[in-house]
Amino acid sequence: MDESRRRAWDWLEIGPAWIPRTGAPELETDAGARHVPGATGAGAQDAAGVADIAVMNWESLRAEVTACQRCALAGTRTQTVFGVGSPQARCLVVGEAPGAEEDRRGEPFVGRAGQLLDRMLAAIGCSRERDVFIANVLKCRPPGNRDPLPAEVAACQHFLARQVELVAPAVIVVLGRFAAQSVLETDASIASLRGQRHSYRAGSAQIPVVVTYHPAYLLRNPLDKGKAWRDLCLAAELLRATPGAMPLG
Ligand code: URA
Repeated sequence: MDESRRRAWDWLEIGPAWIPRTGAPELETDAGARHVPGATGAGAQDAAGVADIAVMNWESLRAEVTACQRCALAGTRTQTVFGVGSPQARCLVVGEAPGAEEDRRGEPFVGRAGQLLDRMLAAIGCSRERDVFIANVLKCRPPGNRDPLPAEVAACQHFLARQVELVAPAVIVVLGRFAAQSVLETDASIASLRGQRHSYRAGSAQIPVVVTYHPAYLLRNPLDKGKAWRDLCLAAELLRATPGAMPLG
């Protein structure tokens, strides 16, 4: 058995009786038509900040996030969670918001969901440190792990938009309904968004987006891991299809 298949079986928690499908449906939709970073509804004071963020380099952006007081979450967080991985990564993974453990450690996806995410990434030959950058829509933990509020997303979205521009990934993998709806600016269900290729506009670039289930959901609904695996195969295919692609799996 080759190593990549073993890793895939490992996180899918299935044995060699399972026959992997080759490839995944590659449908174009326009559900992902989206905003230009920095162009959304801001007041005069906010607009200056947004314009500043839109030209920041990686370290300035990190410092801006660390010091951020743009919403009430600044008063309840232990620390901000900027993201982890390589800023040169070809794959950007986007989750919802830090949880309790992430808030304590300052790194995204470090709890049980994070361990599953690492196994999902390993299944397509990617490691958190080397091949991906992992970020969240919100950089601060919503207390009690409640859903992020629209005002919090509005305050934070320019940070993620600039992260996307600076990383300039070949593919964005979005985890879960909330992040998908936020990144793609849609109310569509996760069931209708996953399994196909969307697009995110960053400046003049169109970056392919693949939506899949959040690992926390997969921990509760392991039977859906098969669908998530197909989504990951699509992401891997898009990575391979891009010039200069890293060898996968
Ligand atoms: N869930 C998320 O969406 N992000 C994290 O960083 C941790 C859990």
